[in-house]
Amino acid sequence: MTAFHPQHAETVFTYGAPGLKFGVGARHELGHDLSQLGARRVLVVTDPGVAATGAPAEIADVLRAASIEAVVFDRSRVEPTDGSFEEAISFARAEGPFDAIVAVGGGSSIDTAKAVNLLTTNDGELMDYVNAPVGRARAPKNALLPLVAVPTTTGTGSESTTICVLDIVSQHVKTGISHARLRPTLAVVDPELTLTQPAGVTAASGLDILCHALESYTARPYTSYEHKQADQRVPYCGSNPIADMWSEKALSLMAASFRTAVRDGGDLAARTEVALAATFAGLGFGNAGVHIPHANAYPIAGQAPQDFHPADYPVHDDGSDHGLVPHGMAVSLTAPAAFRFTFEAAPERHVHAAELLAPGATRPDDPAEFLPQVLAGIMRDVGIPAGIGAVGFGAGDIDSLVDGTMKQQRLLATAPREVTEDDVAAILGQSLEIW
Ligand SMILES: NC(=O)c1ccc[n+]([C@@H]2O[C@H](COP(=O)([O-])OP(=O)(O)OC[C@H]3O[C@@H](n4cnc5c(N)ncnc54)[C@H](O)[C@@H]3O)[C@@H](O)[C@H]2O)c1
Repeated sequence: MTAFHPQHAETVFTYGAPGLKFGVGARHELGHDLSQLGARRVLVVTDPGVAATGAPAEIADVLRAASIEAVVFDRSRVEPTDGSFEEAISFARAEGPFDAIVAVGGGSSIDTAKAVNLLTTNDGELMDYVNAPVGRARAPKNALLPLVAVPTTTGTGSESTTICVLDIVSQHVKTGISHARLRPTLAVVDPELTLTQPAGVTAASGLDILCHALESYTARPYTSYEHKQADQRVPYCGSNPIADMWSEKALSLMAASFRTAVRDGGDLAARTEVALAATFAGLGFGNAGVHIPHANAYPIAGQAPQDFHPADYPVHDDGSDHGLVPHGMAVSLTAPAAFRFTFEAAPERHVHAAELLAPGATRPDDPAEFLPQVLAGIMRDVGIPAGIGAVGFGAGDIDSLVDGTMKQQRLLATAPREVTEDDVAAILGQSLEIW
């Protein structure tokens, strides 16, 4: 962590967001929305599971009814890889040109659409733009096409963020591409599209919402950074009053409706509140940033034991060398221990977050245990595995997981305390078995 010199303390924070259209039936207006963006020929990006619900075909018809040609790519990989991004980019280059892109799906489809948008408007190859040190972290020179993101899961917030996440198979590492130009132009969030989201996906992606809100709420405050120059500003600027507001509200919405949405997927009121929570948390973390649980999630997902495949997720047959721990699940597995570790940096924030998530709950004698207990209780209730041991990791895997986490310095720099290798090893050790 950079040394803090009060005379050079940061005084400025930033806030960026796409246009937003939220509510039941919002998808029926996509023809109008795309026309307003000047689109005549659109690429619709989705994945096989979402395509099977019929939603992308319905949206393509809505576009055609507005005299917009729609070409559908329905092979986004769930938890994308460099190879799957390249397949989508090749498809778009062969079928293009397009003048807008519509992503219909969860984070996997929206992230695939972001990569397609970047590589069909700018020269070079994927690795030129992937975050350093894995890739060359080049900034795009050209403007991207308008991208309209239509989420069908309630979790990632990718419809409002400036990143896309991928697995670089040859290097056994999960990383991302991060640039302000990747942010979608418009997010169209229609809770009706989430009614078919399977319970297992609702649970894992819901833990992503909770961790976005909790990590950005407990992130290092923007005032603790050195003052930046205008050209040094980054999308993730630390916790700040605007991101805090989104995060707090997201936690309250999740307290009210998350368990119901997992238990009864047809409950539109609960689905709507969880969709609102995902949107709010995305707007919060998309500006403040996330820290230790997300940093740990990258190696947990990238090194997952081969035989772990949770219910409601596809089994890939494309030669992947690891199992599938979905992103939200991977993030949550070390979150209780991570918040025990970060407690001392901002005790009042950790206690307040626990109160928002479990109104009226009795505080344990040790206040540092309050948030870990509340979070673990929710994880247990929605069927998340009881720790990294339950997805197949053992004590012997911790060194290699620590190596993977320490590579995520961009995220660890947002933690409210300095994080050493020993700290990460202790957090992972406590997460072998949460309950
Ligand atoms: N860009 C970002 O800001 C960001 C943030 C967090 C996570 N991510 C990435 O997003 C990905 C995870 O995305 P996700 O959790 O949204 O899930 P997902 O896109 O991976 O989808 C999970 C599964 O649910 C199915 N599905 C999705 N919506 C459905 C619906 N309405 N009905 C039926 N089936 C449906 C999909 O077909 C898929 O099988 C990961 O790759 C993760 O790294 C990106």
